[in-house]
Amino acid sequence: MSVTLTPRIHARVAAKITCVGAYAPPRLLTNADLEKMVTTNDQWIVERTGIRQRHLVDAGVATSDLAAAAARDCLAQRGIQASELDAILVATVTPDMMFPATACLVQEKIGAVGAWGFDLSAACSGFLYALQVGAKLIESGVHSKVMVIGADVMSSILDYTDRSTCILFGDGAGAVLLEPAVADEVGMVDFIHEIDGTGATSLYMPAGGSLHPATAETVATKMHFVHQEGGAVFKVAVRKMAELSEALLQRNGLTAADVDLFIPHQANKRIILATAERLGMPEEKIVINIGEYGNTTAGTIPLAMHTALQEGRLKKGMTVLLAAFGGGYTIGSTLLRWE
Ligand code: UT7
Repeated sequence: MSVTLTPRIHARVAAKITCVGAYAPPRLLTNADLEKMVTTNDQWIVERTGIRQRHLVDAGVATSDLAAAAARDCLAQRGIQASELDAILVATVTPDMMFPATACLVQEKIGAVGAWGFDLSAACSGFLYALQVGAKLIESGVHSKVMVIGADVMSSILDYTDRSTCILFGDGAGAVLLEPAVADEVGMVDFIHEIDGTGATSLYMPAGGSLHPATAETVATKMHFVHQEGGAVFKVAVRKMAELSEALLQRNGLTAADVDLFIPHQANKRIILATAERLGMPEEKIVINIGEYGNTTAGTIPLAMHTALQEGRLKKGMTVLLAAFGGGYTIGSTLLRWE
């Protein structure tokens, strides 16, 4: 005999970001340090990438530690307990382990008793993807407090004898809290995301998964490190971030002139400026903090939001455009009103 079931459907509400937390480990790796490790120089790195230094973890510190620190910072600013969280989403390509999910480790570290969550793997677009998933949990009416974290310890998968990759990345984490918008608040407006697997081997870590499990040979042939075709990735990154951002603005009846602040993924200052130029976005509207952190993969956008808040550049009522590009390829663009 069938029982009567009632779907748990909730009224749709809008989602908004209510606070931003950040954490970068204190140890610095400067361009001068890198000059002693590989054949490179400060001038080349600054001119080609805009990076001056990166923050790196000490041995024994993992992605969950950075993620938990950023989450604690976020909770403290909002003045709420971790036990009030409904869900924790962690975007990362450098989880502490293949499993369990880093979200579980963060849940335990911050004491978010009763929360659920999971990891999301979309490389440098991971934070934007997790932000949208988190927003949908709020918009469904099912949840009222979702912590979205972008965190990576890129130093754990870098070959510090390969000058084409080791100069680019750093370690760091950012976290935002998503909650329902109230009254006339707008919050999250719209997004366009796209994945393109034709770029799968242009930026990747070949081994350690089911295709090439770890063996003495995969270690000897450096298959557990980041491999990148820098030039190819550069061109697609600029074209696709501009294309999706343009389409997103257009379908919302906006132009670059209507955007108050552009917060892009921080992979290379030249990529950011070329993308902005295509969009017709003037430099004073762009948040760039790559000089301080390098490319922290899923951490860049929340870290850049944090920088913008600290500098007083991100204010209530602003129309904000976010854009990311990463390994996969993964591409994303998000439009929101800062509440
Ligand atoms: O986060 C997601 C995605 N990742 C990215 O968006 C990264 C995309 N790519 C890039 O940012 C750039 O392609 C790089 C920064 C990786 C490289 O810059 P580039 O302007 O594309 O340089 P290149 O690879 O064309 O190399 C130019 C020259 C080469 O020497 P030759 O062949 O001209 O003699 C390289 O060997 O610069 C050399 N080079 C370096 N020189 C000093 C490459 N790396 C270095 C280095 N220091 N670290």
